[in-house]
Amino acid sequence: TVLVVDFGAQYAQLIARRVRECHVHSEIVPSTMPVEEMLAKNPKAIILSGGPSSVYAEGAPHVGAELFQTGVPTFGICYGFQAMTRALGGTVDRTDLSEFGRTELTATNDSVLFSGLPSDLLVWMSHGDSVVAAPEGFTTVASTAGAPVAAFEDTDRRLFGVQFHPEVMHTEHGQDVLRTFLYEGAGCRPTWTMVNIVEEQLERIREQIGDKRVICALSGGVDSAVAGALVQRAVGDQLTCVFVDHGLLRKGEAEQVEKDYVAITGATLKVVDAEDRFLEALSGVTDPEEKRKIIGREFIRVFEQAAREVVVESGEHGAEVEFLVQGTLYPDVVESGGGTGTANIKSHHNVGGLPEDLQFTLVEPLRELFKDEVRKVGEELGLPPEMVWRQPFPGPGLGIRIIGEVTRDRLEILREADAIAREELSRAGLDRDIWQCPVVLLADVRSVGVQGDGRTYGHPVVLRPVSSEDAMTADWSRVPYDVLAKISNRITNEVREINRVTLDVTSKPPGTIEWE
Ligand code: XMP
Repeated sequence: TVLVVDFGAQYAQLIARRVRECHVHSEIVPSTMPVEEMLAKNPKAIILSGGPSSVYAEGAPHVGAELFQTGVPTFGICYGFQAMTRALGGTVDRTDLSEFGRTELTATNDSVLFSGLPSDLLVWMSHGDSVVAAPEGFTTVASTAGAPVAAFEDTDRRLFGVQFHPEVMHTEHGQDVLRTFLYEGAGCRPTWTMVNIVEEQLERIREQIGDKRVICALSGGVDSAVAGALVQRAVGDQLTCVFVDHGLLRKGEAEQVEKDYVAITGATLKVVDAEDRFLEALSGVTDPEEKRKIIGREFIRVFEQAAREVVVESGEHGAEVEFLVQGTLYPDVVESGGGTGTANIKSHHNVGGLPEDLQFTLVEPLRELFKDEVRKVGEELGLPPEMVWRQPFPGPGLGIRIIGEVTRDRLEILREADAIAREELSRAGLDRDIWQCPVVLLADVRSVGVQGDGRTYGHPVVLRPVSSEDAMTADWSRVPYDVLAKISNRITNEVREINRVTLDVTSKPPGTIEWE
């Protein structure tokens, strides 16, 4: 593995992903981790990430010289580069020549890091302080107007560093520099491939589960689908997938899980039709948080009941379901390790996010993977593109896209409108450009319209197409007018109760993606 030491910048995850794109496994560790602990992971290389602070700032994360005496090849980026310089006796100064954004860099091609690359490169910079003298033993291999030492290397000790950000897209040949460090500088081999990932996970799952019973809650989303398919391949019939149909799904969703998923994975599926139960519990409720809590609570109850039934149906005397599959991803693992106390904006109900007092041991085969890797694993396992490339859909489903009380009729209206929007966006080839497009029914609002010769008094829907990297921030998508026109026309013509289609042009923040 390659350790990416996180100095608190948002870049660490990006670096970790870029390393994996070179087919080398990477793992993010906090900068506070003691060096012995890092060495215990037997790293092939260490990468020090950028950080928000100046090395002179109060509370700036410290790097001791011992990290560079381990013999493990090390690459410092931005803050990591400066921290490395300080620790090894070089000089970092406030030069008043801060550089932000695209910067011209002149590199020496007979270096290791820049071998085979043009000597003039545009790179992405973001620094106030600059390295003005490299530590002893290092050769300066690149410079810019504001950074006399913009990259250095010591090939004997296999230590390297760059002031710019090789991981960002805006840096020309950034990925080449990173790859050169990994392959030439550190001697890593490209063994992190989908086939290996799948093989390794199957092995681990079998080891963990043995001959015990296991269940998986399918949500229809990518993560639980891939996690379930992996476990199915590993232990076959010992797995039962449980799919709770809460009646808040989109058109065709339950059918896709019931038919396609089973056909492709061979999974044993238990579908629980819980529509009545959920709608009854939601009856009369309009408050968004209350809706979310009710849906979360009901889900757990239904799921627990299903788990008990799985045992009974298995017919094995004294059998017990010991394991529960969850589609936890690597970013969740990294983020919960960071333990930052972010404010509770919405109580997210994740179908995977069952409470801890459920008496199961978790099986989390995706906890080392990023979302794009999960999709590749899904493809490797033969899941269809519609499933693998499915856009995010919230656990509480259409329940939080009906503003006002959730009723059967309203769900039916929204389901039709949503299906039309999805169909037209797909037809226009926009599925992978937009992150998702909630369709929201303003069920308590009515407006006057005219259709044929008659007056109508119907409901509006809101289209909420957004583009995003991670759903933490988002912008409204500039969907072409003619696509919007088509959607609007079809919805108002085909869904009788809707006489107005509006577009949400709010970014996040201040708006969230979902309306509730
Ligand atoms: P917001 O509305 O908070 O949504 O901007 C961010 C992303 O999360 C999805 N979302 C949920 N996903 N359970 C989920 O599994 C939930 O309760 C939930 N609420 C919102 C939303 O669709 C968007 O992708």
